[in-house]
Amino acid sequence: MIPTVDNILQNKYLDKDQIKLLLSLDNTEAETLFHKAHEVKNFHVGRKVYFRGLIEYSNICTKNCFYCGIRMDNSRYQRYVLSDDEVLEAARFANDNNFASIVIQAGERSSKDFTLTIENLLKRIHTETDGKLHVTLSLGEQTEETYKRWYDSGAHRYLLRIEVSNPGLYARLHPGDSRHTHKARLKALSLLRKTGYQVGSGVMIGLPFQTISDLAEDLCFFRDLDIDMVGMGPYIEHEDTPLYAFRDMIPSVTDRVNLSVKMVSILRIIMPDINIAATTALQALDPKGREKAIFAGANVIMPNLTPVKYRDNYLLYENKPNVKDQPDETKIALEKNIQAAGDEIGYGEWGDSRHYKRREAKSEKRNFL
Ligand code: 5AD
Ligand code: SF4
Repeated sequence: MIPTVDNILQNKYLDKDQIKLLLSLDNTEAETLFHKAHEVKNFHVGRKVYFRGLIEYSNICTKNCFYCGIRMDNSRYQRYVLSDDEVLEAARFANDNNFASIVIQAGERSSKDFTLTIENLLKRIHTETDGKLHVTLSLGEQTEETYKRWYDSGAHRYLLRIEVSNPGLYARLHPGDSRHTHKARLKALSLLRKTGYQVGSGVMIGLPFQTISDLAEDLCFFRDLDIDMVGMGPYIEHEDTPLYAFRDMIPSVTDRVNLSVKMVSILRIIMPDINIAATTALQALDPKGREKAIFAGANVIMPNLTPVKYRDNYLLYENKPNVKDQPDETKIALEKNIQAAGDEIGYGEWGDSRHYKRREAKSEKRNFL
């Protein structure tokens, strides 16, 4: 007999096979799953959604991931770096609008100059906003020293997606050189944890060659790593990338959206107190994508604060939404999305992951003993 959603969710610990069953639910059964996740979210993290203003600092990248539009070998985009003033203006907008938190994201670079520029920017943001604005970085794999320098300059959260947790699949999606290894990515995640960051990771959903078993494994990976935050969204093809040749292998738009919302809801159930983002990629495939994810368990949204003139050059994937919207328009649209899902916005709150706080409290206790 095939177990029902309720049967499966009665288990305190969902194993990989049970997660696979949940990921394979049809649309009607998936609704039950989404409602369960909704209840879990209400109970553990409440009905608040936190804003993280996203600043796409630079599209210069030294890597060549097969799926990404801003990979180094793509010459279609003009490469840019925001000026310090542009970053500070975006940070001020976030602060003035009570976002309480920003994310600085860029392609991966590791020169000394780059490390220092970020360090100085972090210090300036801290001074100019009286330490009120929390800064999350998403700047790829770096050395322990760099992570530490940035941490000491005021960044306390870091996002580094594992992209896919299966090393074999990772190898198919990246060049086979020493700059793109799954092992290095895992090492970077552990260095981030060691440095003291709240660590976020994530995966893409609906990639060529990816199976339901891989996705179930991804969710188990987040749990095993005891991760604090997750951002995961559908893979979206980009014609200037090598992976575009395999576009016939990917699930339909509807299936990728449904699969992504199922991933969010299962994650909320197995890791009830972490922060989960409703990603822009989901919105790119479905105008209601973000609302669906918020209902089914997500509690973080990242409004884009990058100056509009640069946005056409930060297209990781096709049909990226809201590229022409000014930050205040984005804010209004997102407020509507969140209200439509029945939640409220955690204005002025840092919205640290409760999971992180709980873990920290546990380790403090351990230190005392
Ligand atoms: N589709 C969806 N997400 C993508 N990313 C990169 N390329 C794509 C794509 N084609 C995601 C990766 C990366 C993040 C910044 O954007 O997961 O970590
Ligand atoms: Fe660079 Fe990140 Fe794109 Fe890979 S996914 S090419 S590291 S920006």
